[in-house]
Amino acid sequence: MIYKTPVITVDGPGGAGKGTLSYLLAKQLGWHLLDSGALYRVLAYSAELHGVALDNEAGLEVLAAHLDVQFIPDLHIPFCHVILEGENVSYAVRSEKCGNNASKVAAFPAVRTALLGRQRAFCEMPGLVADGRDMGSVVFYDAPLKIFLTASAEERAKRRYNELKAKGFDVSLRELLEEIRTRDERDANRPVSPLVPAHDAIMVDSTSMSIDQVLSLVISEAKNRALI
Ligand code: DC
Repeated sequence: MIYKTPVITVDGPGGAGKGTLSYLLAKQLGWHLLDSGALYRVLAYSAELHGVALDNEAGLEVLAAHLDVQFIPDLHIPFCHVILEGENVSYAVRSEKCGNNASKVAAFPAVRTALLGRQRAFCEMPGLVADGRDMGSVVFYDAPLKIFLTASAEERAKRRYNELKAKGFDVSLRELLEEIRTRDERDANRPVSPLVPAHDAIMVDSTSMSIDQVLSLVISEAKNRALI
């Protein structure tokens, strides 16, 4: 056992609603929240800042090991504030460009290993909701409740479009759909920690479900397991 605290893992492709679900779960349960995607995003951002090429695995590994980053939870908004080297980069790391770069750096085994301890350190009482791609399959492989949340690529592109528009980003739905497909392909086919459901994960297709329906499904699964 690598932890004693209850953990709910929420994995799945980008835009499936993992972020919103994880945020609402953590808020309702009063648990900690790990947004592991933000960690890969901030690494990609830091690489650009420090002139480390996105294909330089050894350089990225060093950067990952020394990343001076803090995640400040704010339960009034559905994401953490991300402070890199004292600077608030919360907005910058949410761009599509940063998400794509994150997917590239995340494909390197050395990078993933360098970030493992940092992710596990989020696991503190009274509980943790861990949002990512390999939370249930690798990082918290022993978690008592694992959710794999999906939705069709078209539905995910539409959600991402609305979300980014609301944040003031200028985006095109067609380009987002293409990017989502490319990113899915890269995340699912990398040799380490690919985006695959853990063997004991509960599969939830949210294409025609509201976020409230998904949330109550997960809460009832948590109750069934006596986690809450
Ligand atoms: O969830 P997100 O869009 O913020 O993640 C950005 C990228 O980071 C995603 O394309 C793949 C990578 N990632 C990963 O490889 N493993 C994780 N646990 C989380 C994210």
